[in-house]
Amino acid sequence: MPNQKKKRSPVVCLCNSIRQDIIEATIRQGNSSVDDIYDQTTAGVGPCGGSCRPYIKEMIAQFEKDGTFPEVARPIKKRK
Ligand code: FES
Repeated sequence: MPNQKKKRSPVVCLCNSIRQDIIEATIRQGNSSVDDIYDQTTAGVGPCGGSCRPYIKEMIAQFEKDGTFPEVARPIKKRK
């Protein structure tokens, strides 16, 4: 396909620059807790104190419920 850019997966863990697709793959591999995700990716423990952990929990919960993930796990806040 000529000149078609692939859209990058959004970042969920801003502290450690861990993208949503990486976390999704880790969950698909059977990691089912926030601590598991941290062990595999480093997401969830950073200088902010873990502001991404609720989003990671939601990703795990949705995957366990219906096998899908949120389209955008961590909504992007726009500055006013
Ligand atoms: S955003 Fe993930 S630990 Fe700070």
